[in-house]
Amino acid sequence: MGPDFKMNIELTIEKIAFGGDGLGFVDGKAYFVEGALPGERVLARIKNDKKNYGKARLLRILLPSPERVEPPCPYVRACGGCQYQHLRYEEELRWKELQVRESFAKELRADAPFIQPIRRGPKEYGYRQSITLHRTVKTNQKPHPLAFIGRDNHSFVFIENCMLADENLKSVFAAPHALGKYEIKRVFKIGQDKGIVSSEEDRLYRVPLGGEVFWAHSRGFFQNNLDVTELVAEEVAEIVRETAPSRFIDLYSGVGTFTVLSAPKIPELCCFEQSPYAIDCLRRNLNERGLPGAIFRGKVEQMFPNFWLGNRKEDSFILLDPPRLGITPQLAEFFSKADMITNLVYLACDLQILLRDLRIILSKGNYRIRTVVPFDMFPRTKHLEVLAWLERA
Ligand SMILES: C[S@@+](CC[C@H](N)C(=O)[O-])C[C@H]1O[C@@H](n2cnc3c(N)ncnc32)[C@H](O)[C@@H]1O
Repeated sequence: MGPDFKMNIELTIEKIAFGGDGLGFVDGKAYFVEGALPGERVLARIKNDKKNYGKARLLRILLPSPERVEPPCPYVRACGGCQYQHLRYEEELRWKELQVRESFAKELRADAPFIQPIRRGPKEYGYRQSITLHRTVKTNQKPHPLAFIGRDNHSFVFIENCMLADENLKSVFAAPHALGKYEIKRVFKIGQDKGIVSSEEDRLYRVPLGGEVFWAHSRGFFQNNLDVTELVAEEVAEIVRETAPSRFIDLYSGVGTFTVLSAPKIPELCCFEQSPYAIDCLRRNLNERGLPGAIFRGKVEQMFPNFWLGNRKEDSFILLDPPRLGITPQLAEFFSKADMITNLVYLACDLQILLRDLRIILSKGNYRIRTVVPFDMFPRTKHLEVLAWLERA
């Protein structure tokens, strides 16, 4: 039996678990300690003791790791946004890559050779092109400062600046904002002229990315880390070149980022997207370049299976870039069975969700994993982007 709830424990941290907590053992039982690093000897207080594992709060570092650095952000303890600021960035990258390798090995019994080294952009801070701030008072029509939600998931953290955000967003943090009656949060983004666009507005704006300038909407999705998005688009373009499809199917296409950047020369382009904000921009982004794209409006899970059953084509290339929650089990099941799909690239911003969906897609033995590429799209946070290329077995 492990130690009692609320008891202090002394342990050596062995690794960083998915999510950024340090992991160590006491009497064979695993304990997750937020803020502790591998190699460190720490004193921690148990705050949540389950049958097979526990969570503990870091009280004191008895023996620090040489990889430990002072977090540069003054809000890091209260704010829930960053999990890795206390670790050297190169080590964060190494641990994230290892998490991908271990997760694929454990969850899919898939050996690591096809997993490529993690790719990173030039910035470890100042990369976010968009931030979301939350309402902090009940009656909100009068201007008041907005805030991040804290590490405890409910308190507000008022800040003067976020180190992850592009410096051009700085002015929005401390400024008072008058929200609409039903507005509980507001998104602020950077446009082409470095001007700020907010979700209060209902308008189009332009974003330069990968040598192109895209139309985007103030209330729609656009990629947050532009440098790393370029790397992802280059990787997709490379796979497209190698497989030379006659049709590129962009599922959850958004404004058409990957169709435009990775597959503009493919003869037949099909984009599936449900958001009216994105579709308006998608149409402009295709038309402006004279790209002959067909736009399918609505939910991918409802439209794509019927489309495919009526339009099977062996040399189609399918890109899946769903929201964080991934695809439905039914759609994953459809992919697992669909014959004639030769190349499927799944781009995910949540590793666990990707593994969940791949387990279903791979379950019938119709595909093999050709390559997996992790991208550090969200430095200093627990998140990462993973591309998995499946080809017909
Ligand atoms: C992660 S974003 C990717 C967008 C695009 N690939 C890009 O890079 O800009 C996911 C997109 O899926 C759209 N979406 C969400 N659920 C959807 C659904 N069920 N069917 C179709 N599109 C959906 C969202 O509006 C969003 O544009």
